[in-house]
Amino acid sequence: MKKSIVFGVLILVILSILSLMGYERPDDRFSSSTHLEYVRESLRGGPMEPNEYFLLPERCAGCHGYDSLRIANINAAGDDINLVDDWSTSMMALSAKDPLWLAKVRHESLVNPGHATELQNLCTKCHAPMGNYKAHFLGHPDYTLADLATDSLGRAGVACMGCHSIGTDGLGSRFTGDIPYDTSAVAYGPFVAPMAGPMQLYVGLTPTHSLHVSESRMCSPCHTLISNTVDLAGNPTGGSFAEQATYHEWLNSEFPRQEKPCQSCHMPQVEEPVKIAVGYTALPGRSPFNQHVFAGANAFMLQLMKNNKDSLGIVARDTDFNQTLSAVNTMLRQNTLDLNARFDKLFNDSIFIDIELVNKAGHKFPTGYPSRRAILQCIVTKANGDTLFASGKIKSDGELLFPELPFEPHHDIINSPFQNQVYEMVMADVLGNRTTVLERAASSLKDNRLVPKGFSNSFYTYDTCRIVGVASSDLDFNKVAGLEGSGRDIVHYHVPLLGYSGAVKVYTQVYYAAVPPSWLTEMFSFTAFEIDRFKAMYESADKQPKLVASDTISDIVIPNSIKQVNDDLLQIYPNPVQNGLLQIFGAFTLLKEMDIFDIDGHIVKHFENIQIGNTPLQIKLDELHGSYFIRFNIGDKQLVKKIIILAE
Ligand code: HEC
Ligand code: HEC
Ligand code: HEC
Ligand code: HEC
Ligand code: HEC
Repeated sequence: MKKSIVFGVLILVILSILSLMGYERPDDRFSSSTHLEYVRESLRGGPMEPNEYFLLPERCAGCHGYDSLRIANINAAGDDINLVDDWSTSMMALSAKDPLWLAKVRHESLVNPGHATELQNLCTKCHAPMGNYKAHFLGHPDYTLADLATDSLGRAGVACMGCHSIGTDGLGSRFTGDIPYDTSAVAYGPFVAPMAGPMQLYVGLTPTHSLHVSESRMCSPCHTLISNTVDLAGNPTGGSFAEQATYHEWLNSEFPRQEKPCQSCHMPQVEEPVKIAVGYTALPGRSPFNQHVFAGANAFMLQLMKNNKDSLGIVARDTDFNQTLSAVNTMLRQNTLDLNARFDKLFNDSIFIDIELVNKAGHKFPTGYPSRRAILQCIVTKANGDTLFASGKIKSDGELLFPELPFEPHHDIINSPFQNQVYEMVMADVLGNRTTVLERAASSLKDNRLVPKGFSNSFYTYDTCRIVGVASSDLDFNKVAGLEGSGRDIVHYHVPLLGYSGAVKVYTQVYYAAVPPSWLTEMFSFTAFEIDRFKAMYESADKQPKLVASDTISDIVIPNSIKQVNDDLLQIYPNPVQNGLLQIFGAFTLLKEMDIFDIDGHIVKHFENIQIGNTPLQIKLDELHGSYFIRFNIGDKQLVKKIIILAE
C-alpha cells in the first residue's frame, strides 16, 4: 500500500510537469477534466468501497480518452480514435437520457399504474444498468425513474463498466437484463497480460484478459428482451413475448459459423497497434484495437438528442455526434442491404418488375426495438417524367401516403398503389388487436423483417424470432427453390400500363424509419412531463425516413399498340441462354416477326415468318452476349421477354 502511494505521488509530480507543458484536454465535458485532476481525484478516492465496482466513464477518460500529445489512442494516421469520446455519442451512452425511452417508461407506467414500480425497475435494468444493479446491491427492491433522476451512475447509461464488468456466469443464457456482473473489481478486456498497475492504483480495478468480451454473448443479456404479458386490466397472463431477439436472430444465421460476432460489425477494428492508455509512453501498441462508436441504425434519435442536448443534460460534443451520425449513415447505406430491381416481362398491358432485397446485417433487418420498420418504394415514370405508378410513397411526416389498415400485410405481389411493402413486426394484445404498449404484447400479427443469411425455421432459437403472417408462405422469402437461408425477399410488382407506350423508368428505394408517427399515437394520447417533452421534440424533428438502398431501371421501352398474347404460348429455355443457342418452345405458332433488340432499343436481329412446331426453334446467337429483349409478333399481338445471353 505504502509503495503504491509513493508511486502515485511520483506520477503526480511527472504529470504536474506534463500539465505545465500544456498536457490538458481541450474541452471541459467531463467535469474538472485535466488528466492530472482525474488522477488526483482517483487518489483522493482511495481504495474502492464494496459497492463501487461501477465507476463513471469520467474515471476512465484520463487514460482511455483524448491524448493531447497524440501518442496514445490514435491510429497510424494520427487521428484521435479514443474510446471515451467515440462512446459518448453512442445510443448506449445516451440510453438513460434518451427522451423517447423516458417517455415510453412513463407511458407504460400510466397504462399499468398497479405495477409501475416493478416496471420501471425492469426498464432500467438495461438502459441504466449500473444504477439499477448498485441499488439492488444496496438492498433497494426497485430502481425507478425517480431514483434515476438523481443518480449519476444510472444516468451514465450503458457506460464502460456496464460492459467491462460483465462476467461469464450463465452468460449467453441469461436474458432480459439479468446481467451476470462480476463484482470482483475487474475490467475484462481482449488483451493478454495487460499492464495492470495504473488501473489498480487509480481506479482500483484490475484489467483482465478474457475471451468472452470478444464474443456475441457479451451483448446477449441486454439485446434479448422477453417480456411478461399483461392483459388489458394489467394482470399477468402467464405468457411471455419476445420483444427483442437480436442475439437469437444472430445465433440463427451464418455469422456464428463465420466467426462474425456483434463486435465484428459494431466495433470496427484498427489493425495497426495502438497504445491504449494515455501517459504510459512505454506501453507497447495493442492490436487489433476495437473502436467504440457502436453505430447501429438509429440516426433519427441521435439527431434529435443532438438538437436538444442541453435540455436533456447531455454533455457530449457536436463533433462526436456528427461522427457517430456519419458512421450510422455508413452502416445503413453500405452494410445493410443489397437491392436489385429487374425487368421481368411485359404482359397483359402490365410491366412485371422483380425487386430483390438481400439482408447483409447479422440479424433481422430491422431488428431490436419493435417500432423499427423498413419501407420498400417502387415508382414507375413515363418518358415525360410523369408518374405511372407508385407504391410505398411517404409523406413529409414520415408516414405512408396510403397506409393499409390496421397494418400493411406482407406482399409477394404488388399490383396497386394502395399496397405497400413494409418490413416490420406488429404486436398484438390479448384480444389480437394491434398494440404499441410493450407490456401488453401477447403475440405478433406480422413479422416479415428480412431474416439474416443462414436463417432457418428449424433452428432452436426460432421460437423467439419467428416469421409471422403472409411472409411465412411466400416462396421467395428466405427461400430459393424451397431451400431456406437466402436472407432475401423478392417482391413482384405488376404495374398496369393503362395503354401507355414509350420509355419507362423504374426507381426503387428502401427507407428505414426508427420511430414512425403511428408508433407514437397511443403514447401521445397520454400526458405527463416526459411524454409532453418528447412530443415537442418529435414535432420539430425531421421525420423523413433514412435511405438505405436504391436501384433504377432506365432501359425499358414499351412497344406501341400491343395486344399481348398469352405469356405461356412461347417459352425460352434456358434463360440465360447458354452456348449462344437460343431455344424457343411453342405449340404450332406462326411468328410473323421476331426481333431481338438491345437495351438501348436497337434491333440487332430480325426474323420473319417463322414456324414453331413439335421441335423447339433453335437460333445461333454466337456474337451476342449480355441483356436483350426479344419481341414476338403473332398476328396483331405481341409478347416481349427479356433474355440474358451468356458469353461462351
Ligand atoms: C433486456 C434489456 C432491455 C430492457 C429490460 C428494456 N429495454 Fe428498451 N431497449 C433495449 C435495447 C437493446 C434497445 C435498442 C434496440 C434498438 O435500437 O433497436 C432498446 C430500445 C428502447 C426504446 C427505443 C429508444 C430509441 O431511442 O429509439 C424504447 C422506447 C425502449 N427501449 C423502452 C423500454 C421500456 C419502456 C422498457 C421497460 C418496459 C425497456 N425498454 C426495457 C433493451 C432493453
Ligand atoms: C457495450 C459494451 C461496451 C461499452 C459500453 C464499453 N466497452 Fe470497451 N470494449 C467492449 C468490448 C466488447 C471490447 C472488446 C472487443 C473485442 O475484442 O471484440 C472492448 C475493448 C475495450 C478496451 C481494449 C482496447 C480496444 O478498444 O480493443 C478498452 C481499453 C476498453 N474497451 C475501454 C472502455 C472504456 C474506457 C469505455 C467507456 C468509455 C468502454 N470500454 C465502453 C465493450 C464495451
Ligand atoms: C490511470 C490510467 C487508467 C485509468 C484511469 C483506466 N485505465 Fe484501463 N488501462 C490502463 C492501462 C495502462 C491498461 C493496460 C494497457 C496495456 O497493457 O496495453 C488498461 C487496460 C484496460 C482494458 C483492457 C484489458 C485487457 O486485458 O484487454 C480495459 C477493458 C480497461 N482498461 C478499462 C478501463 C475502464 C472501464 C476504466 C474506467 C473505469 C479504466 N480502464 C481506467 C490505464 C487506465
Ligand atoms: C454482419 C454484420 C453485423 C453483425 C454480426 C451484427 N450486426 Fe447489428 N447491425 C448491422 C447493421 C448493418 C445494422 C443496421 C441495419 C439494421 O438495423 O439491421 C445493425 C443494426 C443493429 C441494431 C439497431 C437495429 C435497429 O433497427 O434498431 C442493433 C441494436 C444491433 N445491430 C445489435 C447487434 C447485436 C447485439 C449483434 C450480435 C448479437 C449484432 N448487432 C450483430 C450489422 C451487424
Ligand atoms: C447493459 C446492457 C447492454 C449491453 C451489455 C449491450 N447493450 Fe447495446 N444497447 C443497450 C441499450 C439499452 C440500447 C438502446 C439505447 C436507446 O436506444 O436508448 C443499446 C443500443 C445499441 C446499439 C444502437 C442501436 C441503434 O439503432 O443505433 C448498438 C449498435 C448496440 N447496442 C450494440 C451492442 C453490442 C455490439 C454489444 C456487445 C458488445 C452491446 N450492445 C451490449 C444495452 C446494452
